[in-house]
Amino acid sequence: KIYHDDDADVDIVRSKTVAFIGYGNQGRAQALNLRDSEVNNIIIGNIDDDYAKQAQEDGFTPVSIEEAVRQGDILMLLIPDEDQQTVWNEKIRNNIKPNTTLVVASGYNVAFNLLDLPDDMDVVMVAPRMIGAGVRDRYVQNIPYPCFVSVEKDVSGTALATCLSIACAIGATRGNGAVSSSCREEAGIDLFAEQALWPEIMAIFREGYNVLHEAGFSDEAILFDMYLSKEPAEIFERAADEGFVKQLKYHSRTSQYGQLSTMNRHDGKDIREKFRRVLNDNILSGNFAKKMVKYKMGC
Ligand code: NAI
Repeated sequence: KIYHDDDADVDIVRSKTVAFIGYGNQGRAQALNLRDSEVNNIIIGNIDDDYAKQAQEDGFTPVSIEEAVRQGDILMLLIPDEDQQTVWNEKIRNNIKPNTTLVVASGYNVAFNLLDLPDDMDVVMVAPRMIGAGVRDRYVQNIPYPCFVSVEKDVSGTALATCLSIACAIGATRGNGAVSSSCREEAGIDLFAEQALWPEIMAIFREGYNVLHEAGFSDEAILFDMYLSKEPAEIFERAADEGFVKQLKYHSRTSQYGQLSTMNRHDGKDIREKFRRVLNDNILSGNFAKKMVKYKMGC
């Protein structure tokens, strides 16, 4: 399902106190967007660092994370995923007001049950598929950007309305709208890209280089041809706009023939099996999340 501006009531978030836990890439962009959407009760909770200074320069009065949590009806959890569990346990959990809504911008900690959630807490995800600077620039320029939304826990019965209200106020329901997803789906796809797709792509480039290098070709020529020219970036951009196959029209006949005839010889079974193992055994089973917790604890 896709949600548009018409599905949202921004007055819901305007009537609440919104506490930002973190004022980094997403925190700053989303807080500024909310403020420009006439959400007047915004509190920035931040540790004493350069991000807090930035918040001050932007006209906010940052307070401690604990204090922000004590005041917030809506908690925007926008610190790095790997720090969320510790900060939750040490600074957030014991200061949460009754009937609060937690908003996450990534599914990881909710999907793998790393946060000890109060029974009366609603949990939603508003996850822009866009870097923070892009979330801010596009809001100011009135340009849409992709975003996933989901309701993970709906104790009040109004979690979806709150979720869409926030998504709309940060500019995420404009244009093509915000796409319904889930923390599990968002985290699963993200981790899969990080642990299956991109490592494989990097290994392919590395082995491509090794074979060409062994054949005596110069490093400069190999690397320019492989990616320093930024041709792959161009190809990916065209693929996003027009599709992987349709962008082949920009390549020569020789290139098209070479790419398609070779690709069709791959049945993909080996790689599909490998990818399934990464997704099922490592990611969706929660094994990776457990390993990360141990890694963070230094075990
Ligand atoms: P960031 O790295 O910019 O976070 C910096 C903020 O976290 C600062 O306010 C800093 O004071 C605070 N912080 C860092 N370590 C801390 C600690 N140990 N204790 C307390 N505060 C700490 O984070 P970013 O990139 O904005 O990510 C926030 C959330 O948004 C994450 O869940 C991330 O997955 C999600 N997200 C990020 C996107 C991006 O493009 N950066 C895109 C979409 C979602």
